Amino acid sequence: MSEKSKIADELIRAYWGEMETVMNYVAHSVNLDGVRAEEIKKILIAEVTSEMTHAQTLAKRVKELGSQTPGSEAFRSVQKTLQPSSDTTDVVHTIKGVIKAEKEAVELYRSIIKLCEGKDYVTQDLCIRLLADEEAHLSTFEGFLKEYTP
Ligand SMILES: [Fe+2]
Ligand SMILES: [Fe+2]
Repeated sequence: MSEKSKIADELIRAYWGEMETVMNYVAHSVNLDGVRAEEIKKILIAEVTSEMTHAQTLAKRVKELGSQTPGSEAFRSVQKTLQPSSDTTDVVHTIKGVIKAEKEAVELYRSIIKLCEGKDYVTQDLCIRLLADEEAHLSTFEGFLKEYTP
C-alpha cells in the first residue's frame, strides 16, 4: 500500500469518527431534559457544526490524496459510551461520553500527525488544526464534569 493511501485510510477512519460523533451529539442535544442539561445541549448543537466541518475537511483531503470517501454502507459504529442514556436527565453520562469521544479524536489526530511526519505536511497541518479543535472541546467538557461531579 502506498504512503498516500495509508494516510487516506487513516483520514477515512477519522471521518467515520466525526460522522458518528455528529449522530450522537445530535441525539444527546435533543434527548436531554432539565435545567442542568440546557447549557450542555447548546454546546453540543454548536459542536455538531464543528464536527461536521471536520468530516467535510477530511473527505476533501481523502480526495486530494487520490482515494475516495465511502458511503454509509461501510460505516461501523464504535462509540459505545456515547450512546444516549434511557435516563434523559443523566447529564453526567452525556458529559463522560463526550469526553471519551473527544479523547479518542485527540489520540487519532496525534497518531495521524506522526504518520505524516516527513511525508505529507498538508495533511499534517490539517490534522494539527483538527487536533486544536478537539483539545478545546475536551477541555470544555472536562470543565463541565468538574461542576457536575463535585
Ligand atoms: Fe471533530
Ligand atoms: Fe470534537
